[in-house]
Amino acid sequence: MDLLKIIKNNLFIQNFAASIISSIPPYLEFSVSKYFAIKKAMYVTAHDSTHGSYLEFGVFTGSSFNFAIKAKKKMDKIFGKMDCEFIGFDSFQGFGEISKDDEHPAFKNKVFSVLVNKEQVIQNIKKISKGQKSRIVEGFYKDTIKNKTTADFKIDKARVIMIDCDLKESTRLALEFVKPSIQEGTVIIFDDYNCYKGNKDKGEFAAFSDFRKKYPEISFRRIFDCGYFGRAFIACNIN
Ligand SMILES: C[S@@+](CC[C@H](N)C(=O)[O-])C[C@H]1O[C@@H](n2cnc3c(N)ncnc32)[C@H](O)[C@@H]1O
Repeated sequence: MDLLKIIKNNLFIQNFAASIISSIPPYLEFSVSKYFAIKKAMYVTAHDSTHGSYLEFGVFTGSSFNFAIKAKKKMDKIFGKMDCEFIGFDSFQGFGEISKDDEHPAFKNKVFSVLVNKEQVIQNIKKISKGQKSRIVEGFYKDTIKNKTTADFKIDKARVIMIDCDLKESTRLALEFVKPSIQEGTVIIFDDYNCYKGNKDKGEFAAFSDFRKKYPEISFRRIFDCGYFGRAFIACNIN
């Protein structure tokens, strides 16, 4: 009897699987997906010898940032050591002023300020990044990266860029900032690409669409989707 027949004739197997899958907390599921996305990006860039830094916009508790450091160390074991500085950008107080266009029921300042103990997060990042260069740029993007570029922070090329700052305006500032660091092979992960009910004028999707229109000399190719809302691209051609 093949597996399909067994499942069809044993509804309890269906019920059991449904109970298990539906009881996995969504938060756990999309955090794990984020980890897999970062691991893939680290693998792809190590495999293709795309050297440079890991830049993360939206550090919060440091979950994805710390994971990226761990994933990079594993890739070094497979492909050989690659220099890679880890640089994270966050206010640790949420988004600051949220424009009408960026309003979203899940993106609230109080969620991202109350739930985070900045000192603890930075301490933990220091611990995880032992033997690995890392820095945290603290502050609202309008004060830290607006009208600046990676060159102002002595960042040369980007290997992986993790955009996890939810809003269109935050993403716009992040993309303008990283533009000179994008090289052929840079992977950009957008964790919230399809938020705002898929509205093409909002969120990370809209900021990236505007960026691609403004800088047509950089071509991107979608490489994978991740988590509940995310999508990753590779810069495949720069003219
Ligand atoms: C979804 S959380 C990041 C989650 C994190 N990557 C993780 O995996 O745990 C979004 C973060 O972006 C930060 N953020 C968004 N817009 C910002 C801005 N304009 N300036 C500074 N920080 C910002 C918030 O403070 C918040 O901590």
